[in-house]
Amino acid sequence: MAQIGVGIIGFGKVGTGTAKNLVEKSKLYRERYGLELGLRAVCDIDLDRPRPVRLDRKLMTTSAASVLSDPRIQIVVETVGGTTAARDIVLEAIAAGKHVVTANKALLATHGREIFRAARSAGRHLRFEAAVGGGMPVVQVLTESLRANRIDSIAGILNGTSNFVLSQMLAEGMDLERAVKAAQNEGYAELDPTLDLDGTDAAHKIALLATFAFGRWCDFKKIAVEGIGRIAPADIAAAKRTGHRVKLLAVARADEDGAREAREYEVRVAPVFVPADHHLGRVEGAFNAVELRGDFVGEVRLFGMGAGMIPTASAVAADVLEIAKAITTGAELLPESWPDLTKPLPLADTSDVESRVCVRIPGTKRGRKKLLIETLRKCYATVDECFRVSAGGAEFTVAVTREAREANVRRAVDKLRRAVEKPDDVYAIPLLTALL
Ligand SMILES: NC(=O)c1ccc[n+]([C@@H]2O[C@H](COP(=O)([O-])OP(=O)(O)OC[C@H]3O[C@@H](n4cnc5c(N)ncnc54)[C@H](OP(=O)(O)O)[C@@H]3O)[C@@H](O)[C@H]2O)c1
Repeated sequence: MAQIGVGIIGFGKVGTGTAKNLVEKSKLYRERYGLELGLRAVCDIDLDRPRPVRLDRKLMTTSAASVLSDPRIQIVVETVGGTTAARDIVLEAIAAGKHVVTANKALLATHGREIFRAARSAGRHLRFEAAVGGGMPVVQVLTESLRANRIDSIAGILNGTSNFVLSQMLAEGMDLERAVKAAQNEGYAELDPTLDLDGTDAAHKIALLATFAFGRWCDFKKIAVEGIGRIAPADIAAAKRTGHRVKLLAVARADEDGAREAREYEVRVAPVFVPADHHLGRVEGAFNAVELRGDFVGEVRLFGMGAGMIPTASAVAADVLEIAKAITTGAELLPESWPDLTKPLPLADTSDVESRVCVRIPGTKRGRKKLLIETLRKCYATVDECFRVSAGGAEFTVAVTREAREANVRRAVDKLRRAVEKPDDVYAIPLLTALL
């Protein structure tokens, strides 16, 4: 039976879940796949913290170097997190001839070009399923199951923390601050949830998906990113009143007008009004969901746990198995040349994107509706519906427009900010209509 040695560096939540999976399922892997996956070493800075898996103390080490130089280990699992030590560990692992599995989206979005290239030129496998959808498998579906398609769009809820917070705001009538506290109490948000709430985490993930869907490097720093930091109870109420839910969406799609050879791509993260009966509108709590469109397959939908020790370990362990299978059969996992990391993904100017938009301004006193409707009209955005919303102790006048150019809506928002006493309370959220 084929014997493959595995070393885990980073014995925190995901590392622990992965060790647990490899230990508890060893019989299954032997019987079903003919693979003997041996956990040879587990490394962490702190080995004394209690963890929900029992391991032979002899497997544990505080030295990453000893894992990387262990000749019995063919696959290194990097679950340290961050972009500094993790980068060194992954690059050193590849240089030492190891195959790598990582759950680290920040690392790949930041240093992916260097890391993917290093793996390619060394002929090593590098898999990262858990980095995007946690337990929800999207990378393999996109890169392998849908490989016979030209991918036209990807849209998803890729940050469970933000989705949990928005769900709490809707279900419990909480403001953002209280909903974030609730998420922290339930273990769905870190002590410092900035990267989740400001959209950076979703940006890392959609940039990786865009890279592998469209075949060029997508730099997450170049895409438009807005998190949920400005979402107020009034937005949740306005969405509800118009039959929508506020969701933090990550979207990557080909510009429809672009000729095949000169396609441009719109990649962004933003809060969006999603119809309440749309499958993305129905995703509540810490779940993730994604919708992929391919030219032959049409629409494919995925849904599952985007994080958590056990669900995330499911994706990490599946990558370990896939590499183990490839090592024993000599199979190639991804074509060498896909994606082309030397070329940047051409990003479309979104000024011309048209969508319906919900715009709110503070206050409900006389003249507010007129100010809102007239300002939007002067910027070529026709208002379909205008109403008042009172939520979270504040009152707003809200308008929903027909399809309008993004640049025009931005112009209207700037004008409205200059016309009201609390400019920060003027806010616009697009409806899903044109984003897919
Ligand atoms: N948690 C999830 O649900 C989830 C889901 C998908 C992907 N991910 C990704 O998976 C990775 C790990 O996340 P996590 O939640 O498991 O984090 P975590 O619980 O903080 O685990 C990381 C572990 O690595 C240890 N560590 C830090 N630097 C190290 C080093 N140089 N050498 C050895 N060990 C080191 C940490 O020790 P100290 O605590 O002492 O620093 C900690 O025990 C991240 O990239 C994350 O984005 C996580």
